[in-house]
Amino acid sequence: MNILITGICGFVGSTLARRLLEMRADLAIAGMDNLIRPGSEIHRETLRSLGIRLVHGDIRSASDFEGLPKLDYVIDAAALPSVLAGVDGETSSRQLMEHNLLGTINILERCKRDSAGFILFNTSRVYSIPPLTALPLGVDAEAYVPDFGRIAIAGMSRQGLDERFSTNPPLSLYGASKLTSEILALEYGSSFGFPVWSNRCGVLAGGGQLGRPDQGVFSYWIHGWRERRPLRYVGFDGQGHQVRDCLHPRDMAGLLLKQMDCTGNDKRRVQNLSGGMASATSLAQLSRWCEGRLGKHSVAGDATSRPHDVPWLVLDSSLATAQWGWKPQTPKEDIFEEIARHAEAHPDWLSRSSPGSGAR
Ligand SMILES: NC(=O)c1ccc[n+]([C@@H]2O[C@H](COP(=O)([O-])OP(=O)(O)OC[C@H]3O[C@@H](n4cnc5c(N)ncnc54)[C@H](O)[C@@H]3O)[C@@H](O)[C@H]2O)c1
Repeated sequence: MNILITGICGFVGSTLARRLLEMRADLAIAGMDNLIRPGSEIHRETLRSLGIRLVHGDIRSASDFEGLPKLDYVIDAAALPSVLAGVDGETSSRQLMEHNLLGTINILERCKRDSAGFILFNTSRVYSIPPLTALPLGVDAEAYVPDFGRIAIAGMSRQGLDERFSTNPPLSLYGASKLTSEILALEYGSSFGFPVWSNRCGVLAGGGQLGRPDQGVFSYWIHGWRERRPLRYVGFDGQGHQVRDCLHPRDMAGLLLKQMDCTGNDKRRVQNLSGGMASATSLAQLSRWCEGRLGKHSVAGDATSRPHDVPWLVLDSSLATAQWGWKPQTPKEDIFEEIARHAEAHPDWLSRSSPGSGAR
């Protein structure tokens, strides 16, 4: 099977390429990356040593796909992945749409030409912001906890947000670029008869992630703690009570293989994938873990609100469990430990992914 992984030098793309080859050695994997993410070039040699053909190319440019063989599947992990992309002063809204939307269209055109399947790494940020910021919340054990007894929102339960949760704007420009990519992909798949899967992922985390405060926060926090960098709890009550789930991307590899092997039409094409409630962690709780593992450090409070931020976001992956038997395998403590070990082995990691060095 000929597979193209776009964004292969990023955290998700490189992790999955390695894991997919471990699970099925007969896959012929090619990867495309424009290396726009500072630090992504680090993964090139390892990927080449696995026999992966790397194309230094850009999904915004249709002609960059020309030299590739006929493809059976494209796994799309190329994007500007921050919820602040397009509004952060580093990338413009047009640049965001060119990477995240025009790039998707170029891939879909290629899938149409080759009758290749398409898997989109989508995001929890396709879900509507206003109902999330309006959630009634209490604080327990240094973390926001929704008052579920007072919540009657379609698509929300004690297990988190499921696929029925509203996707009405505002979502952030990032979320809108990914939701539009999903709609276009489903439409291309149905118009031209190729399989499409949209996996809406919660926070993905693990060793080797290029973390920033606005993207890859678990990695950023643990590396920053070990390096004794200034850390801040930004937004809400300034005490780090905001909660996210976390999932190791390698836990998705088996599911991707099932999706690529699936020839039937009985499965839902859009689904959440997340570490779920078992992985839900606040920044303050992460700090406690860091203190136990890496020693004392102080964190400043800053109640200034950040655009598009939400206090509590945990996805419910029950649909993926029901239709594929999929479950996350790596407990959150193992994810944190993997990041901590990586931080100890790579003391300069954060400076390699520092904001401001991003290309356009
Ligand atoms: N990391 C998360 O927590 C998370 C959560 C949900 C969804 N996702 C999605 O998963 C995918 C991968 O995210 P990641 O965390 O690996 O991000 P990443 O920044 O580590 O990797 C993205 C890679 O894509 C490349 N890239 C960006 N624009 C490109 C272009 N125009 N052409 C070719 N390559 C390009 C970058 O150089 C980088 O190597 C993204 O689509 C993101 O939206 C990530």
